[in-house]
Amino acid sequence: MSGPDSVRTQSASVPTIRPAAIGDVPYMHELIESHSRVGNLLPRPMSELYRHLRDFFVIEIDGKVAAIGALEIFTEDLGEVRSLVVAERYGRKGLGSLLVRRIIGEAGRIGLRRLMALTYAPAFFHRLGFRTVPIDTLPEKVWNVCLKCYKYQNCDETAVVLQLEHHNMPSRGAQDEPDNLAT
Ligand SMILES: CC(C)(COP(=O)(O)OP(=O)(O)OC[C@H]1O[C@@H](n2cnc3c(N)ncnc32)[C@H](O)[C@@H]1OP(=O)(O)O)[C@@H](O)C(=O)NCCC(=O)NCCS
Repeated sequence: MSGPDSVRTQSASVPTIRPAAIGDVPYMHELIESHSRVGNLLPRPMSELYRHLRDFFVIEIDGKVAAIGALEIFTEDLGEVRSLVVAERYGRKGLGSLLVRRIIGEAGRIGLRRLMALTYAPAFFHRLGFRTVPIDTLPEKVWNVCLKCYKYQNCDETAVVLQLEHHNMPSRGAQDEPDNLAT
């Protein structure tokens, strides 16, 4: 079966998703650089990646990082899928979708209401439920990021948004309660 839920990798190689670790940063930087050079993504210096490390998830296959993507939070209402890159040799195998679904899950878990992306691949996001919106409906992004971007005056990326459905999210359960701290 093919579709947003399936991942097509070689033989027994099973992709695993985990939070990014310090040691991933040089390769994360390399992946982002390779796409920022051709204008697909905004460049991000290593120092910024260290500062935002806890935003990132990575997918590993056979011990190697195959894809990276971040959830950046602007406000109580809005977060962004940022710096999403699948390494070229792993492209079109479902890893990008897997990572975005993980980011959607995380955004829902922490209570965000909307998730956005600014992209040259809107069709990829549409398959995952995002819809295209005018960028000026996302002032949080414009004020925090776009104003500092060298493409600001002639941005040709498409803004997409996903409304998160909290009624589908797991409710807080006993396992989420803090440990009993009684002495
Ligand atoms: C966009 C990107 C993350 C997609 O990752 P991926 O793992 O190749 O995507 P998936 O295999 O999950 O794709 C699922 C479907 O989305 C669509 N899709 C994937 N990449 C696409 C692209 N670049 N443009 C348009 N549609 C795309 C296809 O319909 C694909 O299904 P198919 O392979 O059966 O045709 C990847 O191409 C990438 O890293 N691009 C460069 C960086 C970038 O543009 N990042 C997004 C900025 S927010």
